[in-house]
Amino acid sequence: MIRFGVLASGGGSNFQALADGLRGDSNAKLSVVVCNVPGAKVIDRASAAGVPSVVLDHKTFTSREAFDEKLVATLKEHGVEWVCLAGYMRLVTPIFLRAFPGRVINIHPALLPAFPGMHGVRQAINAGVKIAGCTIHFVDEGMDTGPIIAQAAVPVLPGDDESKLGARIQIEEHRLYVKVVKDIAAGRLSLEGRKVSLRDAL
Ligand code: GRF
Repeated sequence: MIRFGVLASGGGSNFQALADGLRGDSNAKLSVVVCNVPGAKVIDRASAAGVPSVVLDHKTFTSREAFDEKLVATLKEHGVEWVCLAGYMRLVTPIFLRAFPGRVINIHPALLPAFPGMHGVRQAINAGVKIAGCTIHFVDEGMDTGPIIAQAAVPVLPGDDESKLGARIQIEEHRLYVKVVKDIAAGRLSLEGRKVSLRDAL
């Protein structure tokens, strides 16, 4: 049984997908959600799903490092082994990455390395691409730069705007995040150096 922590800042639909998709999975448990935005919807979702949540308001910390030290301590207190970023709108520091080496993953609403950073969906619309999508990757110190684990493509349709395309991408995000976390929990997926190793994929 691998214990996962989720970091989120907002609505938490990816958290919800994980909570629903992992229910009854004997290999994986969501041990805690940590949210840096007081009042975010993900906190209500966690309580409805029966997953403990902790709010750590980054504005009350004097530095990024001090915040990440508290974050690490909180996750460790809940026995977390792997961390899933799910709409977590902060860059993590080396303090955080050293605490969970090769065990932090993120989901991004674009086909990386295209359109990293904020507003990946808006960037795709503005660029006029015909294929958009989402990416799950290991987290390093950069912005959406770590080794890619999995991607799903989504067509950009005539008349799409950021919200329509974003909704279509999120359907794929939810499916893909559950699949990747299940692969990790089953011991099939790991990071070796900067290389992603996936064995006996489903
Ligand atoms: C997702 O689109 C994810 O790719 C990005 O932030 C969004 C979070 O959505 N990193 P939600 O809070 O999970 O609904």
